[in-house]
Amino acid sequence: MKERMLITGGHPLQGTVRVSGGKNTAVAVIPATLLCDEPCTIENLPDIDDVRVLVDILQSLGARVDYVPGAFMTVDPRPAEGREVSYQDARKLRASYYLLGALLGRCGEAKVPYPGGCRIGSRPIDQHLKGFASLGAETEEIGGTYHIVAEELVGSDVFFDVVTVGGTINVMLAAAKAKGTTIIYNAAKEPHIVDLANFLNSMGAKVKGAGTDVIRIKGQGYLHTTTYAVIPDQIETGTLMIAAAATRGDVVINGCIPTHMEALTAKLLEMGIRVTDSDDAIRVRSSSSGVRAVNIKTQVYPGFPTDLQQPMSALLTTARGTSVIQETIFENRFRHMDELSRMGARVRIMDRTAIVEGVEELHGAPVTTTDLRAGAALLVAGLMARGVTEIYELEYIDRGYEHIEQKLCSLGADIHREAIC
Ligand code: EPZ
Repeated sequence: MKERMLITGGHPLQGTVRVSGGKNTAVAVIPATLLCDEPCTIENLPDIDDVRVLVDILQSLGARVDYVPGAFMTVDPRPAEGREVSYQDARKLRASYYLLGALLGRCGEAKVPYPGGCRIGSRPIDQHLKGFASLGAETEEIGGTYHIVAEELVGSDVFFDVVTVGGTINVMLAAAKAKGTTIIYNAAKEPHIVDLANFLNSMGAKVKGAGTDVIRIKGQGYLHTTTYAVIPDQIETGTLMIAAAATRGDVVINGCIPTHMEALTAKLLEMGIRVTDSDDAIRVRSSSSGVRAVNIKTQVYPGFPTDLQQPMSALLTTARGTSVIQETIFENRFRHMDELSRMGARVRIMDRTAIVEGVEELHGAPVTTTDLRAGAALLVAGLMARGVTEIYELEYIDRGYEHIEQKLCSLGADIHREAIC
């Protein structure tokens, strides 16, 4: 059933909220359970559509999955004989491509259709395939499907031409049980890479160096059971921080990891927003006098995250002055700017740069989500705007944010959903 979200803006967010488990770590750890030789359990998973699709995929491969949203997921991969993911499932999310590395690592063969996910650029996976080839796998692309086979996976050196989160994760998955040692050079360093390494190591894998640009994986013949809680969501934490600032509120975000947020925190401080943190909480207080314009350049971790560029751009629409946003990671990640312009934002796009000229205020309007973090941007804009904003195509938001409107309403936002015929 199609729904729309109605937000009446102008309410400063106040109070405390707990962040959910990380989407981008969950979508890597769940496929990784196929590498285990015993049942294993994951906790702190966000109850989002991407997780539910991955449950369907594991079950379609024959794994037994006991998933209690908000509690745990136990996966028994032992009965899984399947090696192929369906088109209907694969197209629902980007992370379906992690079944390439996980199935290769588990049984030496994988057939996975091209992934779906946010249309924010061409998003090739040449580096993933290069990594698999280094380990001895052969890839055929037939009818929009990757068919990858390896008689035997043998550890090797893999040097990525570009820093790729997905490529790093996929090679880690394929290498975890390969013969010998794999060294990944120019590896991605995002928090979810470290979380995956910790999960694999909790099963007895030997992964060293995650979080640096050189990761060493010594293949293991047997991976044992584990119970593992994934880290909190870095991007949801950032989205909530930005929403607090955008509504000139005062919000404490609990259960987060402040050190993952340093690039955003630094920017918010530069804008004149007060950010203080403790071990597992961040408090964001925005002065009633508004915020200063700043320049943003997205970078790989620990730089400013590309996934926070979009919600941040909503905040910058009413900053004092003109902000310059450079999106260096994806070539088409400004699609939300047209929708912000409907709400009165003044934005000019030149290739991978957006010039945002601060306006007095945004006004509510009907707007449409084009991808997950564009949805986050429209949520922030709706919270800021005078009047009512109607957000359409909510499925993007539901893919990556767990109960987001309940969280925002608990902080004083006026949001509700209604069915649209
Ligand atoms: C992951 O995408 C995340 N998705 C993205 O989050 C995130 O924006 C991105 O990493 C960067 O942090 C998941 O984790 C499911 P990349 P991924 O491979 O793995 C190019 C969200 O909103 N590249 O690091 O696809 C690529 O085109 C989503 O949660 C190649 O050229 O990102 C891009 O320009 C959106 N060849 C750049 O590298 C390759 O083989 C970074 O891509 C792989 C990537």
